[in-house]
Amino acid sequence: MLQCWGRWSVPREHGGFLSTFSSKLISDDWPGYSLDLFTYPQHYYGDLEYVLIPHGIIVDRTERLAKDITQDIGDNDIVVLCVLKGGYKFCADLVEHIKNLSRNSERFISMKVDFVRLKSYHNDKSMEDMQIMGEDDLSDLRGKNVLIVEDIIGTGRTMKALLNNIEKCEPKMIKVASLLVKRTSQPDGFRPDYYGFEIPDIFVVGYALDYNEHFRDLNHICVINDQGKAKYRV
Ligand code: HPA
Ligand code: MG
Repeated sequence: MLQCWGRWSVPREHGGFLSTFSSKLISDDWPGYSLDLFTYPQHYYGDLEYVLIPHGIIVDRTERLAKDITQDIGDNDIVVLCVLKGGYKFCADLVEHIKNLSRNSERFISMKVDFVRLKSYHNDKSMEDMQIMGEDDLSDLRGKNVLIVEDIIGTGRTMKALLNNIEKCEPKMIKVASLLVKRTSQPDGFRPDYYGFEIPDIFVVGYALDYNEHFRDLNHICVINDQGKAKYRV
């Protein structure tokens, strides 16, 4: 008889891929994947500890988020507000998936894409002051359905500040999609409407997430090691 290996049949204590990824939560003891299993730019050899989320899984998860968002959008047109720089890869892939889904459906969702740029990290530490750039155009958001697309939400302080600014423009609706949410010690941490994965409270790079502008050209989401941090410290 054909045996069905349902994902819930793998005992949690066995660890490994299925138990760790059976939800969108990546546990603190997830060892990640060896770098030897994948390809990555040679200029980062020796600078990374392990792969936390391979590129293929990011893209597949993004496709599912696009499906969820498309279903929720219904008949509404949206303005996608991409938070630069880290959000550009996730936003581009998400918009592409939404476009493909809507092309094959009854109604083509009209999407405008706009950008806002935030800077709040120095080395791997969050700074008190968050700078918002490109916010002059936010008044265009009045009466619109806005989907904010972000790479990662840590303490949520940055997102709350951005939401405060956007709310002043009186959009009709605001939803937030973040590829990653960090499990920080903040009890009042911000929860986006959509997110790809909840990850441990560690500093990650790749898929447009940077460490002092480096590692955006890495496809997988990885953890950097001490050598990488020292090499690109400013
Ligand atoms: N990596 C890159 N940028 C970030 C992170 C991170 O882990 N957390 C918040 N911004
Ligand atoms: Mg970001």
